[in-house]
Amino acid sequence: MDTALLEQHFNEKIDQDIRIEPKDWMPDHYRKTLIRQISQHAHSEIVGMLPEANWITRAPSLRRKAAALAKVQDEAGHGLYLYSACETLGVDRDDLFADLHSGKAKYSSIFNYPTLTWADMGAIGWLVDGAAIMNQVPLCRASYGPYARAMVRVCKEESFHQRQGYEIMLTLCNGSDEQKKMAQDALNRWWWPSLMMFGPTDKDSKHTEQSMRWRIKRFTNDELRQKFVDVTVPQAELLGLTVPDKDLKWNEERGHYDFGEIDWKEFFNVISGNGPCNKQRIEARKSAWDNGAWVREAANAHAEKKAKRKAA
Ligand SMILES: [Fe+2]
Ligand SMILES: [Fe+2]
Repeated sequence: MDTALLEQHFNEKIDQDIRIEPKDWMPDHYRKTLIRQISQHAHSEIVGMLPEANWITRAPSLRRKAAALAKVQDEAGHGLYLYSACETLGVDRDDLFADLHSGKAKYSSIFNYPTLTWADMGAIGWLVDGAAIMNQVPLCRASYGPYARAMVRVCKEESFHQRQGYEIMLTLCNGSDEQKKMAQDALNRWWWPSLMMFGPTDKDSKHTEQSMRWRIKRFTNDELRQKFVDVTVPQAELLGLTVPDKDLKWNEERGHYDFGEIDWKEFFNVISGNGPCNKQRIEARKSAWDNGAWVREAANAHAEKKAKRKAA
């Protein structure tokens, strides 16, 4: 079949919401877009383990420690599903890691901020995992089968993360004045970076239009950001906390909250590697890779030995 016909067939499948599977023909650009998006997503999951792992040993009780440990392990699992989904598109996992370590590949800007107090564990679960859910629930219907299926499981776990974070915030807000202050401080520091997680505005987002056409994306960055604000502001009110935005106000006519301008200079600065923790995060990933070299070597040696024994 010639390419035009294959492409027509592909577009028909997309329009009818028929999933594209690894062995199906797909345009090169579709494949590349998915590799970029899924690998960025996978990197975000495993880099996202770092800010919270920082607090596992200092969690205030055994219950909190167990939940933090489980959450960080979930994120490792999310990374693994997503690297596997990405490999079905014909890339090698080692190459994806190499791109992360060299700084060529991006990951979510949010994980380049430090976790200064225990309340940050609450704010991250509530806001960062909350924003992740907003982004990821529509991805369960993405046109590429392996990605969509991975997201179903991921989203179930993300909703547990969001709830454990909100519960930490609720406990702090019902605690002493000092604890409530800690919760407010965490909200002050994580609010704006959480809004940045949805990416540039629609007019500056170069991939949105094509990704919507291919049904990889179902909503634009600005639509998702608005949904997040609308859902989260009443939750902050329930906690008795103040969202750090003087322009935040319910707009009766639109039926949505209006909110202030994001500091896009900060966003692009962090994305391009100059956030408070970018270097530390990449160093941590690189040393995990280097320290794991003996495991990879041993696994390969074992596999070779087994293969030889089988052949003999
Ligand atoms: Fe995750
Ligand atoms: Fe999560």
